Amino acid sequence: MRVLLTGGAGYIGSHTALVLLEHGHEVVVLDDFSNSSLEAVRRVEELSGKSVPVVEADLADRAASERALEDIEFDSVIHLAGLKSVGESVAQPTRYYRVNIDATLVLLDVLRERGITNFVFSSSATVYGVPQSVPIDEQHPVGDGITNPYGRSKFIIEEIIRDTQSAWPELGATLLRYFNPVGAHTSGRIGEDPSGIPNNLMPFIAQVAVGKRERLSVFGDTYATPDGTGVRDYIHVMDLAEGHVAALEHNRPGIAVYNLGSGTGSSVLEVVREFERASGQPVPFVIEAPRAGDVGEVVADPTLANTTLDWRTTRSLADACRDSWNWQSSNPEGYAG
Ligand code: UD1
Repeated sequence: MRVLLTGGAGYIGSHTALVLLEHGHEVVVLDDFSNSSLEAVRRVEELSGKSVPVVEADLADRAASERALEDIEFDSVIHLAGLKSVGESVAQPTRYYRVNIDATLVLLDVLRERGITNFVFSSSATVYGVPQSVPIDEQHPVGDGITNPYGRSKFIIEEIIRDTQSAWPELGATLLRYFNPVGAHTSGRIGEDPSGIPNNLMPFIAQVAVGKRERLSVFGDTYATPDGTGVRDYIHVMDLAEGHVAALEHNRPGIAVYNLGSGTGSSVLEVVREFERASGQPVPFVIEAPRAGDVGEVVADPTLANTTLDWRTTRSLADACRDSWNWQSSNPEGYAG
């Protein structure tokens, strides 16, 4: 296939681009580089030995995107482009709704005009809100109890895609609900390069281990979990990338929804210990108050993706820590270094 990969220069996008190329697909990256680097695409080219055309456009800008895509051939789309900082979304809700929703509306119109029916969307386990029970399968209610505009934008976009598919039955749309992506490609050439202070756990730990930050704040140790700290389902980004390729290759008319997670939960302190082991560096931490909107435990039931897509995670949390450390220690300033 010839895949338009929106947000293809970002963390998940760059790993997905590489795995698509390794599976014999062609990739065109569309990105506005507002929170990503062209260098990531160059490194994907270097790792794959293949060239990756880049379209620089802000998808939310309809006229500019239509112009930029006019002469670009593709037969399928993986849509990852969007803003993703939870905290920022609370402070700037209109920006988050506008950018994330407008980008998707423009893209869906482009697809319909061109009759491109193979569409995979990057959603999030955040659409489940506060889990009623764990592990969470795809039948779990969505929409209620989402704690931030970022998460709600993902939920709204899922609904928009469903409505679009009802009006256009040929459309095959797959919604991938990610749990917590971590790790990096084993080469250490591509990885997560957050701007500013990382919000997410593993990049923060990596920066403590490499000496860029003094200590980790552990947000809460009184949850109803074995050690009291938050439990999440960490999924290696290469497993996640392979999940996108499986979903794309399996896509057919209608709506399909899959959790992409490992099915295993790990606590904050387990991640700290695993990272210390992988890096050989100490990760000092202090226990602090729980973070607003956090929940104790979020773990996927990935059975549907395992059985339907014949996809499963093969990499452990230890692998993710090793790969994240390899990326962080060889690129302490990220792509800018
Ligand atoms: C968050 C978002 C989610 C988003 C995901 C990936 C919320 C409620 N959820 O998930 O919508 O899809 O990021 O961007 O914000 N932790 C610490 N110290 C830190 C950072 C995190 O103790 O400095 C803890 C958290 O309390 C949590 C765990 O580590 O228990 C994982 O946190 P994080 O990596 O931010 O992911 P989520 O909160 O699960």
